[in-house]
Amino acid sequence: MTTMQAAPTGPIFDKGLANTIAAETQMSFIDGGKGVLEYVGIDIDALARNSTYEETVYLLWNCRLPKQHELDALKSALQAEYEIPDAIYDMIKSFPRDAVPMHALRTLVSALALHDADAESSETTPSGIESAKRQALRLVAKTPTLIANFDRHRAGKPFVRPDKSFDIATNFLWMLNGEKPTEAMARGLDICLILHADHGLNASTFAARVTIATLSDMYSAMTTAVGTLKGPLHGGANEEVMIMLDEIGSMENVEPFVKGKLERKELIMGFGHRVYKAYDPRATYLKTFAKQIATDTGNLRLFEMSQKIEGIVLAAKADKGIFPNVDFYSATTYHCLGIKTDLFTCMFAMSRMSGWAGHCIEQLQDNRLIRPQAKYNGPHAAPYVAMAQR
Ligand code: CMC
Repeated sequence: MTTMQAAPTGPIFDKGLANTIAAETQMSFIDGGKGVLEYVGIDIDALARNSTYEETVYLLWNCRLPKQHELDALKSALQAEYEIPDAIYDMIKSFPRDAVPMHALRTLVSALALHDADAESSETTPSGIESAKRQALRLVAKTPTLIANFDRHRAGKPFVRPDKSFDIATNFLWMLNGEKPTEAMARGLDICLILHADHGLNASTFAARVTIATLSDMYSAMTTAVGTLKGPLHGGANEEVMIMLDEIGSMENVEPFVKGKLERKELIMGFGHRVYKAYDPRATYLKTFAKQIATDTGNLRLFEMSQKIEGIVLAAKADKGIFPNVDFYSATTYHCLGIKTDLFTCMFAMSRMSGWAGHCIEQLQDNRLIRPQAKYNGPHAAPYVAMAQR
């Protein structure tokens, strides 16, 4: 006779929440086994090839592609919000020149709230949602201005104000370098922005949703998210990839370096993913793009080293589901765009701001406080020992 096991009731311990579905979204769909990523049902590859970052933002926030006049209206609304208050420029000037860029960005995103009358708290009413959308638009529009001008400050260069006639990618490179980028460079950045815009309930998006679910404000949620993205297991990995490429230094050194790391069971940055156990579909397109931009900018050696690393890691680890993730080839791409290595995670934040904000709006539209439980592993009935007896 078999005994029926009762279905577990109550909370289940799920370390890392890998098997927990904690929110609903209409924005992005991931099939980690097949290596599929869709934004609102549209394959990421089709978007990277045909869309623009602004159109992708519209898609994520409205769950459909815009008509021309709708796209034009979003672009104008973003452009009208590119500029940051003078007090924020003054704040940037006060930062140490050697500040970690993600510390600077996190602080500046938080400080923007001081200059936005909408930023008090969130409400789930229609007017509250409209207010959250206004905050989202400002955050997406202003973040490039914060990053580019922080970079100028630390290089001892004068600030460059945003140019409202440019799209987001062109405007960012304009402010960063003080000159209009070529169309190819601007398009390269635009593609990176599309590819990084949203990715299900990743750690920083989850953190943003946790914050907004308390009915805190959008700036607090984005500040939480920037802090979470900073970690090397999340957005910080693209910087680590570039540092690794620099450390390897030559084609001859690739094999001993990578094999040594594998033997010592150390992580190879830019590989592996909690969800993808196949090739990260964002990496597929980025790989092609990285090759092209590396060729155009005289950095082919960097691409070839990356390709060699990939070959060695795949030979050792593909059967365990370890493939390149989005960060692996974005390192080469950003380097070829002339972006400094320690700004890479800020670039990720600049794009993901739209995904974070979209998720926060979804959360407000159907809100419930996010409050999991902890499994207590400590003692019980412990005596309180007076100070003198400890
Ligand atoms: N290099 C070598 N081995 C790896 C790697 C790697 N990059 N990633 C995972 N493994 C191994 C890991 O050591 C473990 O082996 P074993 O079963 O023998 O202990 C096995 O694969 C499973 O790994 P895990 O750490 O349990 O997987 P996870 O889902 O907890 O971690 C990850 C996912 C992304 C944190 C991890 O793959 C990693 O640390 N990768 C390097 C950092 C990185 O590139 N992060 C960017 C992620 S994509 C951008 C983003 O979404 O933020």
